[in-house]
Amino acid sequence: MAVRTKVRRSPEAAKAAAISEAKAIAPDRAARIGSTPATTFRGDPNIFGRLVEDHDKHRALFAMIEDTVGKSPDRVRLFSELVHEIKGHAAAEEQALWSTVLRNPETTEDARHAVAEHKEIDDMFADLAARDMASPGWLRRFAATKEKYLHHIREEEQEQFVAAEKHLSPADMRHMRSVFNRRKSAEKSGAEVERKIKLKA
Ligand SMILES: [Fe+2]
Ligand SMILES: [Fe+2]
Repeated sequence: MAVRTKVRRSPEAAKAAAISEAKAIAPDRAARIGSTPATTFRGDPNIFGRLVEDHDKHRALFAMIEDTVGKSPDRVRLFSELVHEIKGHAAAEEQALWSTVLRNPETTEDARHAVAEHKEIDDMFADLAARDMASPGWLRRFAATKEKYLHHIREEEQEQFVAAEKHLSPADMRHMRSVFNRRKSAEKSGAEVERKIKLKA
């Protein structure tokens, strides 16, 4: 079931819907995401609420992968879903939001920071995809990628989205949501998982 709606929802309902989307991929895995960093955007009917829905789904997928053992079918399926999700999300976020935010001199630095982190995260996933999922080192590397990504989305929610919002009209933010939804599905389905060792042992 898609977590897309035009009406404001409670933060709890929005978070629960995002987690249940992740759970649909592997219903037997626990999705313990715990408490999430404070944000006023969760449940908003505009672009920022939509992006936080994705972030919550990603938080759940990370937690579920940590609930798997070795190269199990669930780990393979969840990892593939997470990489496609994050690649699709990052590309659509750049097209719908960061491109506009970048053009405003007052927020150029915020957009540049977020986009630079997308590239670092992409490299971390390519590195993980190239390594043996069954080895004990894989989960350790996965945990480092998780930490990096959770830092990225916390900063977006608490810093870059907050700065960007000040310069956008309600109409801009609604329009960005529809651009994001359209681009996300195209980018997610077209995403290719690169497999390349990029980080040191
Ligand atoms: Fe991002
Ligand atoms: Fe994001």
